[in-house]
Amino acid sequence: MIDAMDIQITKAKRSKLKDIDFNDLPFGKYFTDHMLEADFEDGDWKAPVIKPYQPLLLEPSLAALHYGQSIFEGIKAYKNKEGEAFIFRPRDNFKRFNVSAERMQMPVIPEEIFLEGMRRLIALDKDWIPAKEDYSLYIRPLMFASDQLIGVKPSESFKFMILLSPTGPYYSAPMKIYVEEKYSRAAPGGVGFAKNAGNYGASMLASAIAKKRGYDQVLWTDSVEHKWLQEVGTMNVFFIIGSKAITPSLEEGTILEGVTRDSAITVLKEMGLSVEERKISIEELMEAHKTGNLKEAFGTGTAATISMIKELRYKDSVIHFNTDGWKTAPELKKILKDIRDGSREDRHGWKFAV
Ligand code: COI
Repeated sequence: MIDAMDIQITKAKRSKLKDIDFNDLPFGKYFTDHMLEADFEDGDWKAPVIKPYQPLLLEPSLAALHYGQSIFEGIKAYKNKEGEAFIFRPRDNFKRFNVSAERMQMPVIPEEIFLEGMRRLIALDKDWIPAKEDYSLYIRPLMFASDQLIGVKPSESFKFMILLSPTGPYYSAPMKIYVEEKYSRAAPGGVGFAKNAGNYGASMLASAIAKKRGYDQVLWTDSVEHKWLQEVGTMNVFFIIGSKAITPSLEEGTILEGVTRDSAITVLKEMGLSVEERKISIEELMEAHKTGNLKEAFGTGTAATISMIKELRYKDSVIHFNTDGWKTAPELKKILKDIRDGSREDRHGWKFAV
């Protein structure tokens, strides 16, 4: 096992912090001064290093480039009102990272490297955490196959990294969503529950077509009947129908077990809503709209946080929402913000101190 004290740190000679306009932070564009790197070789993880953010030198035969053994996570660090830095629910992402690793025939990463490595990296670059509402330091852990061999087989060597990116809101306005019924994201037995790079690569065509049609993202449906709702490209989805919150269930393994999804379920229940995790069809949604019972629709994700949906298109039917009068999604968003900035007690131990 790696002793966390083994992390060797090489500091950047010059910080890029002053070169960046913290009032204009597009998602994932800027990276902090340092990154973490750890290699898996000869059946074991080697001690991680933290070093200046820099390009990698890789051979064109790199296995990950050819066969997609590559996984990642998305986590955020914030500052509370006192300016103290913390990470939001990183243990949950750590667990999910290893679920993805096992599904993709990759080695699990020890907690010391993932969590303690992340904590040390953020401690070093903590001046990069934006202190503005809806802004955060986005944390991107990733792992990819690093064998230099193009035979189709599980790689024997892997690289784990953590990058940090100061970022503003992913979606700054309520979203327009297109219900996808031609392409599929995931099928039972597949990799829909894993956060592997290929899930995102395979989604690009459908989301590009939706964009051309004037929509921000697609809402995926099941791969057989194209009627059961799964998730939106970058987030899980919730509907307020009557006085209930309904979100697609996880048991078929076709959607991502979102950490923000779990925070939302917990907080919605505390707000007094009954939350149902179950199969929900597009017909049920359209019917609830017709009868006036569909009150709100929103997405949850680390990058997206809580993102309201203002329009939902299914075939030729369009649901327009007037998000101004909504109660649930804005309150949920505010409660999560208050927990983060310390205005509200962190009753579930979601904040991990840096
Ligand atoms: C996240 O919410 O962190 C994600 O990974 C979704 C997307 C930005 C890829």
